[in-house]
Amino acid sequence: MKKITISLLAVLGLLTGFVPNTRIKTLFDRAEQQTRLMLSEVAAIDKKPSSNKPLWVSPRTLNEAGALQLVPARDWTSGFFPGELWYLYEFTGKKEWATQARFYTVNLEAEKMNAGTHDMGFKIYCSYGNGFRLTRDPAYREVIIQGAKSLSKRFKPTAGIIRSWDHHKEVWQCPVIIDNMMNLELLFAATRLTGDSSFYKIAVTHAKTTLKNHYRPDHSSFHVVDYDTLTGKVLKKNTHQGFNDASAWSRGQAWGLYGYTLCYRETKDPQFLKQAEAIARFMLDHPRMPADLVPYYDYDAPGIPNELRDVSAAAVMASALYELSTYGSGNARYRAKADQVITSLSKSYASPVGKNHGFLLLHSTGAKTFERDVPLVYADYYYLEALLRAKKLNEKKPLF
Ligand code: GLY
Repeated sequence: MKKITISLLAVLGLLTGFVPNTRIKTLFDRAEQQTRLMLSEVAAIDKKPSSNKPLWVSPRTLNEAGALQLVPARDWTSGFFPGELWYLYEFTGKKEWATQARFYTVNLEAEKMNAGTHDMGFKIYCSYGNGFRLTRDPAYREVIIQGAKSLSKRFKPTAGIIRSWDHHKEVWQCPVIIDNMMNLELLFAATRLTGDSSFYKIAVTHAKTTLKNHYRPDHSSFHVVDYDTLTGKVLKKNTHQGFNDASAWSRGQAWGLYGYTLCYRETKDPQFLKQAEAIARFMLDHPRMPADLVPYYDYDAPGIPNELRDVSAAAVMASALYELSTYGSGNARYRAKADQVITSLSKSYASPVGKNHGFLLLHSTGAKTFERDVPLVYADYYYLEALLRAKKLNEKKPLF
């Protein structure tokens, strides 16, 4: 009977794009094999590039020569590889993955004091946040709280935003990028862990200001909004990684979708759900969204269909859509679309096992001018997260 049920589910999956648990297990088996390869390659690299440079701690991508590119802890992508290891542990329950996850997580501890960037959530929540969720290790809790304190120092009350970048001071006075919505998860967690509502208030204020100033009438987002911190006025609206200032950079749209969905999870404020649904409509109904739901790197890239795709944007979107499918009513469409993305990624964009230095997915695009058509560690992270969410939904379990 069990066999019949499994094969019926597999056939149903082929016909509808539904992703059954048997398929998710196969994809995690592959992810384990690839990650073992990556761990062996990372172990073989000299982590101290030269005497005055910081240690390389996590893989990010492949460089132009096709070699594995590691980054120091301060890089915005350093938390994704430890996060993937925690996801492998969550799925398999194997001690092997918990041991590796702990090893790569603690490499990032010093970042909890780094108030020079907004990327605290990416770095600390993907690593320590998942670690704490799965182990309840009190040492991880402290790192999350300190990380949130450091991030809060970047909040500018008059403008009502958390400053994103300190670089390019000649271009922007106080730039905020849509990506910053992803860092709010860390602040919400810090309020839950401490009872101190100041983190929550900063997160909600940032989300509301961003909703007002980053979004266009069609519910697409600008990438960079520059603020005057003395008056709170918006000075400029630009892009840094998309096609141009007026365009819709695909990963930015996905960060916004994920960010407003998580804001709704944490606050139950209907304006955040409305915003997430409007962003989902922009993406899913866009005339230049390809049939396989893996977007071009920018919805307005002029050479479509001869432009690069961004698999990382698709993976972030899929994970967010799974969560969005659990809110409101009649959201079967979001789940079906997320399943369709996962089916596309796993069939047409996945690395063959044993290749590409252990990355899971190929064909991501970091930006218009760099990291073009490469594997990116955050595509892999959100892919595994999406698979875990799909499994929980299949089993009718809560996502959080
Ligand atoms: N800074 C995050 C990104 O490139 O999407």
